[in-house]
Amino acid sequence: MQRLTNKRILLGVTGSIAAYKSAELIRRLRDEGAEVQVIMTRGAEAFITALTLQAVSGHPVHLHLMDTEAEAGMGHIELARWADAILIAPTSADFMARLAQGRADDLLTAVCLAGDVPLALAPAMNNRMWRDRATQDNAKKLVGRGILLFGPDSGDQACGETGPGRMREVDLLVNDLVDMFDVGSLAGKTVLITAGPTREPIDPVRFISNHSSGKMGYAIAEAAVEAGARVILVSGPTALPVPDRVELVNVETANQMLDAVQSHMPVDLFIATAAVADYRPVQVSENKIKKQDNIMALALEKNPDILAETKAQFPGVFTIGFAAETNDLETYARNKLMNKGVEMIAANWVGSAAGENDGTFGSDNNALQLFWQDGEIELPMASKSKLARSLLAHIVPHFEDYQAKGLPKANNVVNLKDPGKPIA
Ligand SMILES: Cc1cc2nc3c(=O)[nH]c(=O)nc-3n(C[C@H](O)[C@H](O)[C@H](O)COP(=O)(O)O)c2cc1C
Repeated sequence: MQRLTNKRILLGVTGSIAAYKSAELIRRLRDEGAEVQVIMTRGAEAFITALTLQAVSGHPVHLHLMDTEAEAGMGHIELARWADAILIAPTSADFMARLAQGRADDLLTAVCLAGDVPLALAPAMNNRMWRDRATQDNAKKLVGRGILLFGPDSGDQACGETGPGRMREVDLLVNDLVDMFDVGSLAGKTVLITAGPTREPIDPVRFISNHSSGKMGYAIAEAAVEAGARVILVSGPTALPVPDRVELVNVETANQMLDAVQSHMPVDLFIATAAVADYRPVQVSENKIKKQDNIMALALEKNPDILAETKAQFPGVFTIGFAAETNDLETYARNKLMNKGVEMIAANWVGSAAGENDGTFGSDNNALQLFWQDGEIELPMASKSKLARSLLAHIVPHFEDYQAKGLPKANNVVNLKDPGKPIA
């Protein structure tokens, strides 16, 4: 399980012989799902190259404070804002002294001062440097300000002596960092969410679509990120901003949505909120259709059932469908639960049945009824972001039960769009 999914770690590297371990530390943090950006001090550059840390972090390394180009892009304030936590490993004695004094005369000290996120230091130095009164006073001062010290540990040192001052082992540092964060209920899980309407073209300028705004699906995507999941959002056309840390896949038609969903399968959880058009025009005119008779007929054919087809092909994926109904909500929701073979259905009223403070398309509020095989619960009217969090809080225990029971094996995988054709 990846324990740092979605987390942004700013790693400071200072001038200690232990700087060679920073490359391995970055790799381990990325293995845990974290995104890592690196700031090096001038001292650090004498021990390891920026090129190495750039290659392992996948980002350009930040080096200087007085850099016109960098300050025009991701400058020191932006870097401080970007991070969820700052870890300085190794931290030299000199850097501790500068930080204790509150200096900001290089990039790393400036970012530490400007940052409003947890800051942890992994000191690495000769044991006499560590034991010295000056270093001990600095350490106390820093801890008194809420800065965390990871280590140092005791043991053999590069200088040939033995004692306290060794940088903590990389695996232990990663564990320390994980402990700094609340591990969310979906940490390490991948969640795929569909949202918005689909557009089915009639000709180059016209299409069939619906009033779905995508707000509910986008709110669930945000809530899932908050809960620690890797989130893939397959979205029809909406006017919404891309939620932070979400992998957005834009689609237009139902067929494109089906392809995008299935190309990311299997995932742990599939939440299908999109309002997919049931039908599409049989023929899409190459040219704009001209006005002719008083009545014009448009032949339509059925679109794929993304929810049912995906569940049939990937039965091990815990799947939640959405139903928007104007009448007989419970009957339709329960039928959908059975017919599509999914684990849960979240249903809501739309149209005049939704009442005044309604949850119809485009509204910022909604209410849901959540159904599963042997139960149901009502989630009362709330903002869509609050409702999304409450929805996930109810889904997660069912999902955990489902995983604990062991996942059904994937069926003989059949391409339901074209049963004769194997899945690529
Ligand atoms: C070979 C060598 C090894 C060093 N190792 C350490 C060390 O492990 N810890 C430390 O605090 N300083 C060490 N220093 C001293 C620092 O590099 C020096 O104090 C430097 O100014 C730190 O700069 P910085 O904190 O801006 O990176 C070492 C110096 C040399 C020449």
